[in-house]
Amino acid sequence: METKLKPVDTSIWRKKPLAAYESDVKKSELKRVLTRWGLTSLGIGAVIGGGIFVLTGIAAHDWAGPALALSFVLAGVACTFAALCYAEFASILPVEGSAYAYSYGTVGEIFAWLIGWNLILEYMMGATTVAVSWSGYFEKLMHLFGINPPLYLMNDPITAREKAAALRAAGEAVPDYAFAVNLPAFLIVLVVTYILVRGIKEAASTNNLIVMMKVTAVIFVIIVGAFYVDAANWTPFIPQPVTDNGNQVHYGFSGIVTAASIVFFAYIGFDAVSTQAGEAINPKKDVPFAIIASLIICTLLYILVSLVLTGMVRYDSLDLKAPVAQAFADKGLTWAVYIITIAAIAGLTSVMLVMMLGQTRIFLGMAKDGLLPRNLFASIHPTFKTPWKSTILVGLIVATVAALTPIDKVSELCSSGTLLAFAMICGAVWLLRVREPQLERPYRTPALPVIATLGILANLYLMYNLRTDTKISFVIWCTLGIIVYFAYSRRHSNLNNPTDYNS
Ligand code: ALA
Repeated sequence: METKLKPVDTSIWRKKPLAAYESDVKKSELKRVLTRWGLTSLGIGAVIGGGIFVLTGIAAHDWAGPALALSFVLAGVACTFAALCYAEFASILPVEGSAYAYSYGTVGEIFAWLIGWNLILEYMMGATTVAVSWSGYFEKLMHLFGINPPLYLMNDPITAREKAAALRAAGEAVPDYAFAVNLPAFLIVLVVTYILVRGIKEAASTNNLIVMMKVTAVIFVIIVGAFYVDAANWTPFIPQPVTDNGNQVHYGFSGIVTAASIVFFAYIGFDAVSTQAGEAINPKKDVPFAIIASLIICTLLYILVSLVLTGMVRYDSLDLKAPVAQAFADKGLTWAVYIITIAAIAGLTSVMLVMMLGQTRIFLGMAKDGLLPRNLFASIHPTFKTPWKSTILVGLIVATVAALTPIDKVSELCSSGTLLAFAMICGAVWLLRVREPQLERPYRTPALPVIATLGILANLYLMYNLRTDTKISFVIWCTLGIIVYFAYSRRHSNLNNPTDYNS
């Protein structure tokens, strides 16, 4: 008797069969060792970094003034909606690969592809931003030891030119640099790449230690800084709007919103918990717990730090490269500057590790599904057992962009990709609830239609408030993603040959 083959689904909405995830989980050789607080610690480790240690300076100085704390509230609320939805997604499919993997199994290929494509901005541009932040604190550390490296080795070309011009205006004899490079940012990325290729994955205990250092430094800033707050610095709390040719450029309510879209970066990373689901002891319950717990803890810390910082130093005098350390230096607290600088350097290194690790694991997932070239992104080193080619590629891109681009440009690009991914996740979780209500959901987002709608609106609103050139770059990035999907990924997807999933 002739057997009829089921026709291959070629729709852009085709889904990865859930059975394939089960076999992925079975094949996984990762050890399940992470507890709920271990996962929360990973989350906090990925979250606290360049956002609070560096971007607070730019956001308050250029956009929000002392009302930066309100920007943190706004960004925190947008993230909470997304986190609640993420948690439900993670509880249904506790697999590695984060939002990309969840949406491939539930919503469809093109949607998953676009999320994966935007996660590249989140993780790669995130690591880039953190590398530039690291360099700022490293420079501060060198100053503490009396070393003053030349401008053209510590900054990207645009920032170096701006700084040289400012110094010349102040009467210093500084040349106009033909070329400049942020060398510390470049080098630290190469070091992290080396560690990741060798597979010396942060042992949980090392990570816990760094997280403890980082959180202690932040609490230290809040408590010690509180003694140096001058309430006069908070007045006016929301500085008057400043306009240029009739367009408001900063301060006022719109400055608060723009600052929220900038400091949104500070929250990125709580979703990295979901990339560790394969190592969790009880992923269905503990991953949602850790996502929400790390977000709540960080939101409280951020609001307090921003109040203390803008209370210690007038917003228009905040340092742009290492504002937290500089605020203490201005008060003559050199011993505190050492503590903060060293904790920031260690903490920022761990964020870079998590982000670059997350990126290579997402690439690995996409390559295993056939959406990216396997020989480049899923090639595992015979000795180190790491995806070495993709790690080196990611490292080279991150290092080069970090060496040559100003921090605000990369951080906003990172935020734009993440904001869209978050909005898409809110929509996807809701869609799934409607389409497949019978799926087992160990964690159910409360009042999902309300939370998802607010999540979509809040994240898209923050996106809308990014600067125009960021939005243009983002549209170019998404267009490129769609071209790659139709030119390569769709044609190479495993779903063209479903038996690939059983091999
Ligand atoms: N949230 C992380 C940071 O601020 C990415 O560095």
